[in-house]
Amino acid sequence: MSSTTITDWKEIQDLYPINEEMIWLNNCGTTPCNVNTIRSVQEYLEGYSRRGGLTDVRRYPTVKHTIRKIIAGLVNCDVEELSLIHHTNEGMNFISMGFQLKSGDEILLLENEYPSNVYPWEHWKEKGVSLGFIPMANTPDEFLENLKRSVTSKTKVVSLSAVHWCTGMPFPLEEIGNFLDEQGIEFVLDGAQGVGLVPIDVRKMKLKYVAFPAWKWLLGPLGLGVLYIREDRLDRLSFPFKGTSSVSNDEVYLPYRGELKTGTDRYEISTVNFIDWVYFQSSLEMLFKIGFHSAMERVYELADYLGEGMKNIGFQLEMDHFPDYKTGIVVGTKEGIPMDELVSYLKKHGVMCALRLGKVRFSPHIYNRKDQLDRVVQLLGSFSG
Ligand SMILES: Cc1ncc(COP(=O)(O)O)c(C=O)c1O
Repeated sequence: MSSTTITDWKEIQDLYPINEEMIWLNNCGTTPCNVNTIRSVQEYLEGYSRRGGLTDVRRYPTVKHTIRKIIAGLVNCDVEELSLIHHTNEGMNFISMGFQLKSGDEILLLENEYPSNVYPWEHWKEKGVSLGFIPMANTPDEFLENLKRSVTSKTKVVSLSAVHWCTGMPFPLEEIGNFLDEQGIEFVLDGAQGVGLVPIDVRKMKLKYVAFPAWKWLLGPLGLGVLYIREDRLDRLSFPFKGTSSVSNDEVYLPYRGELKTGTDRYEISTVNFIDWVYFQSSLEMLFKIGFHSAMERVYELADYLGEGMKNIGFQLEMDHFPDYKTGIVVGTKEGIPMDELVSYLKKHGVMCALRLGKVRFSPHIYNRKDQLDRVVQLLGSFSG
């Protein structure tokens, strides 16, 4: 498998039946399926219907290896440091329940963070560990200052998103990672809005723990996620989750044993949602073939194109606060316009977007077309005058 530079995006646009039905611009929420993936899953299911788990159409070790290899290349880790789980929330619970903190310690989270990176930390409160929130900022530099100001000698863990889900602002992860590493503070990343949208390099960013879902920038299935735990951290985490697939040589059920798998895949726990794996392999292989870098650049191009169109009709954009950082999440507002009514109006006209913190949020992906974005700007114009 090797990456090629794609110049004609029509080939990708044509793979997505959703383009015949509506303009889906909520790709940082969920993403639709393409026809190649439908075919892959169908082939697998046909094989499964004839030969059950013995089918050769897709085999567990190969699918697992392919997914982990592509993700490992994307985030610059070892294959062994990755586990397929179900969502960010599950990964955050695995990590949070694994830490050994003591009363008086503090965990820092992000203001207005998505609940999947908040609720898993709340159990610590009843153990005397406090939760603090780092204030949001308009720019990545300002946020770095906020983070540095929020850290105290009590701070033991910072768990942060890669990109803010309500504003689209990427955080300066390398600077944050280096700072936290120097302070001896554990850095956990919610990669939901980051992996596949912005470059994530766990080594450069000194990341020890990352969890993210498949169904956003990676175009994968709902209910499948990925957990990264750096090799040297694995045995330091307590592991209250032992399951059939957590132990070494897990295809042999008896006698029971205590020895855990040596890699992060000990968090696979038990029988996997293999149809989703087949789906994910298909979307990852497509992105790998396009090249993750090219895909990201295309998303930025579409986001900038939409942003320009919105500005021309008087919208104020979050992304204008951080012009040196690329994003694929376009968040805007216009004075005097009721944003909830605007979002309903767009939906009624076949445009899927979201309302976040009182603003309208669009997130294009590689299969969107520029004429779709022109149409959105036209609708925004006709609603807002
Ligand atoms: C920052 C962030 N984290 C996590 C998620 C998804 O959480 P989960 O993978 O637990 O469904 C989202 C989805 O919108 C998100 O924006």
